[in-house]
Amino acid sequence: MKDRINELKERFASELSAVSDQKSLEDLRLAFLSKKGKVSELMQELAKIPNEQKKEAGQLINTFKQEISARFDAKMEEIRKMEEERLIGSTESYDESLPQKIKRGSYHPITLVQRELEDIFESMGFDVEDYSEIVDDYHCFEALNIPPFHPARDMQDTYYLTTPNQLLKSHTSAAQNAIMHKYGPLLKEKGRPIRAVFPGRCFRNEAIDACHENTFFQMEGIMIDKNISISNLIYFMKTMLSEVFERDVTVRLRPGFFPFVEPGFELDIQCLICGGDGCPSCKNSGWLELCPCGMIHPNVLKYGGINTEENPYEYTGFAFGLGLTRLAMMKYGVKDIRTFNEGDLNALSQFVSK
Ligand code: DAH
Repeated sequence: MKDRINELKERFASELSAVSDQKSLEDLRLAFLSKKGKVSELMQELAKIPNEQKKEAGQLINTFKQEISARFDAKMEEIRKMEEERLIGSTESYDESLPQKIKRGSYHPITLVQRELEDIFESMGFDVEDYSEIVDDYHCFEALNIPPFHPARDMQDTYYLTTPNQLLKSHTSAAQNAIMHKYGPLLKEKGRPIRAVFPGRCFRNEAIDACHENTFFQMEGIMIDKNISISNLIYFMKTMLSEVFERDVTVRLRPGFFPFVEPGFELDIQCLICGGDGCPSCKNSGWLELCPCGMIHPNVLKYGGINTEENPYEYTGFAFGLGLTRLAMMKYGVKDIRTFNEGDLNALSQFVSK
């Protein structure tokens, strides 16, 4: 085995020194390291030799494999550098005093709004969490007190994958359960309140028009502790919205139904354009609907492992689901929601964060 490896080593070294481009390097790699390559052949031979020699021979093969892999990488880097130098050398010299023609990239308006909100919530002690876009029925619906066949599902028709029980999340609320399980132990053992926001892309089977898209963004938030009440909810919402709109906003709550909160609300802000007198932007009502929210339903807290059957009201909390896309439309005066997904750089590159 030793002789065989030495012979291969020499052969490899001489072939490698003849290589001068990526294609022949790849051929050499295949000849030695692919499934049908020399190293695999050695492994097959290993099976045939007497047991007491196997250990040593196996080690030799491994060292050989590592050695040639390292030399491949080094050669690859060498060739890459050579290519680079060849390309640079062949380009015409350039005049660095000419004005630059390349337009700098910019952030998507929804990214801008999302980051701004993340900063605001972080400054209020919230953790920012990321959650997957593909979820299961339990997290998207059942853990949120929406059992199968509940009529509330009709409003959230989404896209189902061919993999059983996998769907594209129809709302960021789908992360609530996982976040409660993640932070619940800290709440119980250390008394650290759960404060988390989780932005994300959501999907729904919508008829698309200027106000509806099949793909949009939300930012969900929850706060859970002992004695959390609606006053806490109003305080956090008002503070956050005043920061976003850079002025003091007036908010009001109307009853709203969502199976995962009780009581549930629609939170409106007084129209920032007419100050509440009524104008076309607020359809003459003086108010703009902005953010559904409410006190987390006892069942949701139970499924999240926060409260027990015996003590179902030990902890309480609020939740809200901000429409990030809607907020970006309001903040930047975007009239058609489709603008966000169309990829038209003329439209999307106009926005800057404050
Ligand atoms: N998930 C709801 C939706 O997309 C919005 C929502 C309502 C979220 C009330 C909440 C809430 O957290 O408390 O329609």
